[in-house]
Amino acid sequence: MNASNKKIIIAIDGYSSSGKSTLAKEIAKLLNYKYIDSGAMYRAVTLFALRNSAINPVNHEVDEEKLKSLVDHIQINFKYNTEKQRQETFLNHENVEDEIREMTVSENVSFISKIAFVRKKMVKFQQEMGAEKGIVMDGRDIGTVVFPNAELKIFMNANAEVRAERRYKELKDKNIDVSFDEILKNVKKRDHIDETRTESPLKKAPDAVELDNSQMNRQEQLDWIVGLVKEKLN
Ligand code: DC
Repeated sequence: MNASNKKIIIAIDGYSSSGKSTLAKEIAKLLNYKYIDSGAMYRAVTLFALRNSAINPVNHEVDEEKLKSLVDHIQINFKYNTEKQRQETFLNHENVEDEIREMTVSENVSFISKIAFVRKKMVKFQQEMGAEKGIVMDGRDIGTVVFPNAELKIFMNANAEVRAERRYKELKDKNIDVSFDEILKNVKKRDHIDETRTESPLKKAPDAVELDNSQMNRQEQLDWIVGLVKEKLN
């Protein structure tokens, strides 16, 4: 697909469970690019905060002083697991890929990801990972804050029920016990916090291309983005 060896940055932002990571992984594979799930990084920090009692899981109150004093002890890495054919997230060298997807983390992550010093650290890390281009990164602020000069920016959305249904299926497939209503509530709540926070709120970059995939299957979405990538690589 890429005869010129030109490498670009592809930024994919959008709402929770809008299918960003599925599309990002597929296009990264096709281009032989690095794929980075920035949400997994905020989830890993949240798990770290929960384990170190820097956030109260009941009222979501964050002990910012404590977290600030601990934040430099957080190391996040990604490794590809060939057996499971998936990328996995490591927190201080421990594989936390499954744990960061659980509801406790989902319910607390918005309260951690809105903290300025947490975002500053993650953004720096993300920018370092993209320094050589040839990267697809998904998240909420990739096209607006992390890589404002990305060659291709996508902004994804789908209606909340469709997104909750997708997440429900994903968790059921992993035998995680949750109800659909609980997920729908969580999706809507995270949308609200992501859009209204002061620090890097979720919003479409002016030069991002919008994709509402409520009615699209995976192949249709992949074909659509391949068309856009080809234009950028020519
Ligand atoms: O993509 P996800 O649902 O796994 O992301 C988890 C949370 O992290 C989400 O509620 C918003 C936050 N997030 C963020 O603030 N900025 C990013 N670049 C990625 C995720």
